[in-house]
Amino acid sequence: MKEGEMEKIHLGIIGCGGMGFHHARSLSKMKNVEITGASDVDPEKLKRFTQHYSVKYSFVDYAQLLDIKEIDAVLICLPTFLHYPAVILAARKGKHIFCEKPIAMKIEDAEEMIKVCRENNVKFMIGFVRRFDNFWGKAREVIREGTLGRPVVWHDIRSSTGASSSWYFDEEKGGGPLIDGAVHNYDFGHYTFGKVKRVYAATMTFKKGISAIDTGSAILEYSSGDQHIISWSWGLPQGALGAQLIDIIGPKGALIFPGCFDEAKIPRSIDQTQYGVFLLNLKGEGKEWIKWRKNDMFFDELKHFIDCIVDDKEPCVSGEDGKRALEIGLAVLKSGRTGLPIEINV
Ligand SMILES: NC(=O)c1ccc[n+]([C@@H]2O[C@H](COP(=O)([O-])OP(=O)(O)OC[C@H]3O[C@@H](n4cnc5c(N)ncnc54)[C@H](O)[C@@H]3O)[C@@H](O)[C@H]2O)c1
Repeated sequence: MKEGEMEKIHLGIIGCGGMGFHHARSLSKMKNVEITGASDVDPEKLKRFTQHYSVKYSFVDYAQLLDIKEIDAVLICLPTFLHYPAVILAARKGKHIFCEKPIAMKIEDAEEMIKVCRENNVKFMIGFVRRFDNFWGKAREVIREGTLGRPVVWHDIRSSTGASSSWYFDEEKGGGPLIDGAVHNYDFGHYTFGKVKRVYAATMTFKKGISAIDTGSAILEYSSGDQHIISWSWGLPQGALGAQLIDIIGPKGALIFPGCFDEAKIPRSIDQTQYGVFLLNLKGEGKEWIKWRKNDMFFDELKHFIDCIVDDKEPCVSGEDGKRALEIGLAVLKSGRTGLPIEINV
């Protein structure tokens, strides 16, 4: 290396679909990172990706990518059911791993992934990107400062046609919205309120010909006394979009999320190119605009992963976080299936 030249982290991308491309955009902006390798079973997608990012090594079989010594770390952007074998092999080959959420489809798989990464002394980070989003960070701050009082109830209702790839709607490959999408909520809930003690859910499927539950509602009770009420659907027909309704209420007031207040009332003094806002409704006429600085959460997430490799520190989102969130998702599905509340004992 020439004097003054920065040592680069060499990355491999496994899975060059939606998230593979999305993450590569962030990585290509980082001076100390090179996208050195890529793998996708679909040769067309692989070609498009490697040409777009001028990637040195490309393979249809990711095992070959993992044999490249020059590659320090990999981003696993495969359909969820394939995270497990890819993480195990990457860890055994000594690569640091960023794995998209959900960690896996089964708890036993998640446990083994955590164990094998530990045994091989590689970093293992799960893509819970909301941890890096100033929007969710500000909501968490408002809750934890006690502005709304405690306990709080967090409502989150959303519905859409759902994800584009068919594996998302397969109960064994993606698990539908209550596993795949809502896993972000389960992680945010754990990060903010702590342990879930009980889950109740009711579920159904609107779409024909799919094996996953595509629509459902759940109540999560935390040991802290806080509650999360979630109702998600990917069951709407093509082109239809439901409303997104999110607020957090407590004994002292309510935090109203964007989309649920009149945006024309946001004061002009707030530069909305730089800041987003929540509406805080306190007692009487106490309305207040709470702003946060907009950020690129995906860039900040991957920067953290790279910094952890460079500085040899542990990522702030761990395999255990991934396992915990999956546990809640599986409990939600089980409660929907059995009609019974599910106690969470871990
Ligand atoms: N963090 C987030 O906000 C977020 C958003 C969307 C998706 N995700 C997660 O990211 C992961 C990927 O989702 P996506 O939307 O990019 O999926 P996708 O279907 O768009 O892409 C997956 C890619 O993996 C490839 N692939 C399949 N089997 C392979 C194999 N054996 N070897 C190599 N390549 C293979 C496919 O050809 C495809 O290109 C999922 O776990 C998903 O839940 C996370």
